Amino acid sequence: MFDFRPDPATPKPEAYRQLLDAAEALTAGEPDAVANMANIAALLWDFLPDLNWSGFYRVIGDELVLGPFMGRPACIRIPMGQGVCGAAARDGRTQLVEDVHAFPGHIACDSVTNSELVVPVLRDGATVAVIDLDSPAKARFDRDDANGVEALARMLAGRI
Ligand code: SME
Repeated sequence: MFDFRPDPATPKPEAYRQLLDAAEALTAGEPDAVANMANIAALLWDFLPDLNWSGFYRVIGDELVLGPFMGRPACIRIPMGQGVCGAAARDGRTQLVEDVHAFPGHIACDSVTNSELVVPVLRDGATVAVIDLDSPAKARFDRDDANGVEALARMLAGRI
């Protein structure tokens, strides 16, 4: 039985330390990338308030291909460089987008999304996947969220 929901009064950096510990424990010793991405998508969904989507896109050739996620069915293939996920994957850099409607080329998989955080998972300097978090709230994500998900991405690099 897993219950990873943090106390809502927990400061964000501490909550992300708990998230990282839970993610570490959930994926330890498990070599199957799909199983690990599925559990992390569910963990993020459980752990973070105000999300309408949490999950992975994997870099395959010159595209991003949908991976395990929580939320509504989503776009399956995203060309490298397109949308928020494509930009994060191409540049190997986090995209913190307060208002997706102001982001050139944003791919609207779900019209309720207003803000996004997309963090690349890097292996040997190359993007192998991105972690995509979407919210119906404008400016849902801040630098604390980005730091927390970047730490998660570093931990997962050898596990997905
Ligand atoms: N909106 C994203 C596409 C992925 S979905 O939100 C799940 C983007 O522009 O990259």
